[in-house]
Amino acid sequence: MEEKKRKIVVTSALPYANGDIHIGHLVEYIQTDFWVRFQKMRGNECVYVCADDTHGTPIMIRARKEGITPEELIARSHAEHLKDFTDFQIKFDNYYTTNSPENRLLSEEIYKAAEAKGYITRKTTPQLYCEKCNMFLPDRFVKGVCPKCGAADQYGDSCDKCGATYGAEELGSPKCTTCGQTPVVKDSEHLYYELEPQHEYLEKWIPLHTTSDVSNKLLEWFKEPLRGWCISRDAPYFGFEIPGFKDKYFYVWVDAPVGYIASLKNAGKFEMWNDPEVELYHFIGKDIIRFHCLFWPGMLNAAGFKGPTKVFVHGFLTVNGEKMSKSKGTFVSARTYLDNLPPEALRYYYAAKLGGTTDDMDLNLSDFVQRVNSDLVGKITNIASRGGQMLQKKLGGMLGTMDEEGKALVEKCIAAGDVIAKHYEDRKFNQAIVEICRLADAANEYFDKREPWKSVKTDEEATRTTLTAALNAFRIIAIYLQPVLPEYAKKAMKLFGESCWTWESASETKENSALGEYEYLASRIDLKQVDAMVEAAKAKPGESGEVSHESRASKNKDKAPSPAKDASPLKEEIAFPDFEKVDLRVGVVESCEIVPKSSKLLKFVLDAGALGKRTIFSGIRQAYPEPEKLVGKEVVFVANLAPRKMSVGVSEGMILFAGEPGVDGGVLSPSSPASGGTSVT
Ligand code: 2FM
Ligand code: ZN
Repeated sequence: MEEKKRKIVVTSALPYANGDIHIGHLVEYIQTDFWVRFQKMRGNECVYVCADDTHGTPIMIRARKEGITPEELIARSHAEHLKDFTDFQIKFDNYYTTNSPENRLLSEEIYKAAEAKGYITRKTTPQLYCEKCNMFLPDRFVKGVCPKCGAADQYGDSCDKCGATYGAEELGSPKCTTCGQTPVVKDSEHLYYELEPQHEYLEKWIPLHTTSDVSNKLLEWFKEPLRGWCISRDAPYFGFEIPGFKDKYFYVWVDAPVGYIASLKNAGKFEMWNDPEVELYHFIGKDIIRFHCLFWPGMLNAAGFKGPTKVFVHGFLTVNGEKMSKSKGTFVSARTYLDNLPPEALRYYYAAKLGGTTDDMDLNLSDFVQRVNSDLVGKITNIASRGGQMLQKKLGGMLGTMDEEGKALVEKCIAAGDVIAKHYEDRKFNQAIVEICRLADAANEYFDKREPWKSVKTDEEATRTTLTAALNAFRIIAIYLQPVLPEYAKKAMKLFGESCWTWESASETKENSALGEYEYLASRIDLKQVDAMVEAAKAKPGESGEVSHESRASKNKDKAPSPAKDASPLKEEIAFPDFEKVDLRVGVVESCEIVPKSSKLLKFVLDAGALGKRTIFSGIRQAYPEPEKLVGKEVVFVANLAPRKMSVGVSEGMILFAGEPGVDGGVLSPSSPASGGTSVT
């Protein structure tokens, strides 16, 4: 029986219109895109909507500074954001704006429904007001001395130094960040959205629609009556005026989530929102849980709208184990990345790391280079590049039939489809990649065992049989990778003369058909490109709103992948007992320095855990011109090699490195303290 096709609406959080899209944002849009593309491949009706979040004080101030209207600013950002997303192969069904007539009407409707139920109250509160700028100051527009620890230069909501949260009027010596003047305290009446009337509803709703870590945290607040949240802002403000009030605007967080529905409406699919058969999913970061899992379901429920089926929450991005930093050049805008590196590389790496949890995700830049080169290029693409080119050049580009062993390989690939699909469905993209790499390993093993580069000289048909199975395996792998690498899959599709792949396409095989022209699918990336990106990010630190980049073509022209560059002859074969004698351990690089007067040697001191410290000299300097960068990383070393006396000192082991200059072939990862001396199996 055919499976019932699902109807799904998916959203990613709406990016603010006053800032560039950066690699941190991309963690969310890229993973949402994986999931949406997967759903579409499965034949489900899946609509992915998003928009720019255009309202609020920062946008108004930014436009003022630039001498343009907020409308001009948001139009420019919209175009630039959409271009960034498109260049990263993120495909929305509609990318709209919150400053739209649909959004105004829907926001008013949702507000009026709450008002009619008596959920909107009024309170007069003291607030900081700048008499020079003629405006009440939002928390981020005032700085002063922290009332708790006395640290200077702290924002009006919380202290960077001690973590305290407070009201802006509690700051010592407050100053307006726009003009520097000392603000005065002034009373203003504000509107509050009371949540307590929905206490019970929300308490039941939260555990059903969020994961347990998220709901446990939120439910803490339910031990006491829920506090109302302030939904109004005074003029001047860029946003929607509240019906029935003059000079009072909806706080940006009121109309922002309504923007999801407005974007759906603008796409002509409004009826999907409240259709009981339709599933609604929000992908968000963990910083905005409160808005999506508390305020938003309350607003929707009060207005008779359906709430999300699930809110999928992800963690933050760290780079090299640390918060993204402008001064270190790791706060990288989407455009700066694209100016230096191919989008597929980041999509692949994010897929390999994302497991559908709220844990933070680390982009380790050397691991990124290594993993893209070894797995995506060296392992996966290599099957197509070796097999495809040989079939084209030597065998007239015709696929033949598969023998039993080849069929078994392809059957294995087909059989993995269900597990991989389950991982995609559960947003365990990292697990999907692990499975896909396993299939690529099996295909490479088959290929290497058959040695088609040798057999092609003596037996063309046997070679055709080998290549047919290897290329069929590759085809299935590329189908499974399509949600992650859509453009790559498109090129692979062309190779097999096809124009569309669904998930089902993976259960077909290709025999006795012509192969299309082989086009390079992915190229190796180089640490130099990463370094250039970091330098560019330092030079242009992505200050929010600096969004006038010229679109430049990628510098990464497809290069032929180079599987085995090392042409030196293999040493004599060794028996397993010989290999077993080698004791491989993991050590943490404690120091690494250039050896004076030697052009090749680096001196390593490794922390080898229970084995103590090891000094090892390695002839690897050319690959690591900045040896200090290796400090703290893990390496695999031969721990039972007899100490060797060298002219520069005694070397107590041998570190394993592989790869080309500049690529951290031997480095495993940043170290964890427990890893020293771990044995390698
Ligand atoms: O945190 C942010 O970047 C917000 N602009 C997200 C809004 S998501 C939605 F609710 F609109
Ligand atoms: Zn001011």
